Amino acid sequence: MDMKALAPRCGVEIAGVALADCNPADMAAIKAAVHEHGVAVFRNQDFAPEDHIAFAKAWGGIDLNNYFPLDPRWPEIALVSKAPEQTTNIGGAWHTDHSYDQIPAMGSILVARVLPPTGGDTLFAHMGAAYDDLSDEVKAAIGGLSAFHTADHVYKADGLYAQTDQGKVLRGQDLRTGAVHPVVIRHPVTGRRLLYVNGGFTINFVGQTREESLPLLTKLLESAVRDDNQCRVQWEPGTVAIWDNRTSWHNALNDYHGHAREMHRITLSGEPLAA
Ligand code: OGA
Ligand code: MN
Repeated sequence: MDMKALAPRCGVEIAGVALADCNPADMAAIKAAVHEHGVAVFRNQDFAPEDHIAFAKAWGGIDLNNYFPLDPRWPEIALVSKAPEQTTNIGGAWHTDHSYDQIPAMGSILVARVLPPTGGDTLFAHMGAAYDDLSDEVKAAIGGLSAFHTADHVYKADGLYAQTDQGKVLRGQDLRTGAVHPVVIRHPVTGRRLLYVNGGFTINFVGQTREESLPLLTKLLESAVRDDNQCRVQWEPGTVAIWDNRTSWHNALNDYHGHAREMHRITLSGEPLAA
C-alpha cells in the first residue's frame, strides 16, 4: 500500500490495495490512516454492494441512518442522492454525521455510483488541526464545556429538509434525538484532542442558552474550517472514501444542478466519546 497526503493537515489517498480483497494487515493500516487523517480515498475500486457490506462488517457494527432512504436491495446501504430536477443536496454544509446520537457513528464508507459530469466534490476538515489552532484562552474556555446536539431541527416534519425538495424522500420525521458530548473529545483510538461541535447539529453549550452559546460556538465553527485545515475529494467512477466522524467534518458541494449524483453510504458504528 502506498499513502500520499491529500493536503498538509487533512486526508490521505491510499493506492495499491483492493478494498474488496483486503488482508488483515492492510485493514489495520487503513483503519489507522482513517483515524489519523480523517478521510482516506481509494481510486479505481471494483466494489460491488456486496463487497461494500462485507468490508463494512470487517470494521465492526453497521449503524442504519434513520433519515436517508435505504436501498431496497441492500438495506445496510443508505442512498445519498440528488436527482437532476432537485436543487437541494444531502450534507451540503459543514457537519459531522450522527453527533446527535449518544454513541455517534465512527464514520462512513461512501462509494460513488452516479456522478455529474463536473462538480459534486466533497470537502473535509480536520478537527485535530482545528483544535490545535485555537488560542490558549479559547482552549481553556472550552476545556470543561459540554454541548447539546440534536437533529430535530434538520429532519422533523417542519425542519430544514422538509422545506426543500429533499423533504419527500427522507424518513424519520417523527423521531426525536438529543445527546450531550464534551466540546473537546479525545479520539477513542489515537487519543488526539479534537474539537467536537459542528454547525449541523450542535445547538448550545450545557448551562447556556442558544443565544448565550452562539458567540463562542460561531467563533469555533468559523475557525475550524480555515482553508489549511481542509482537503477536497474529487470523485471519479470507482472512488471510495472512508471518513472518521470524530477526526473530521465534511461538506458536500452542490454545484451540479441538472445532473444526477448518487452515492452509496454504509455508516460504521462508533464508541462512547469522552473528554
Ligand atoms: C453523508 C454526506 C457527502 C457527499 O453521506 O453523510 O454528507 O459528498 N455526504 O455526498
Ligand atoms: Mn454527512
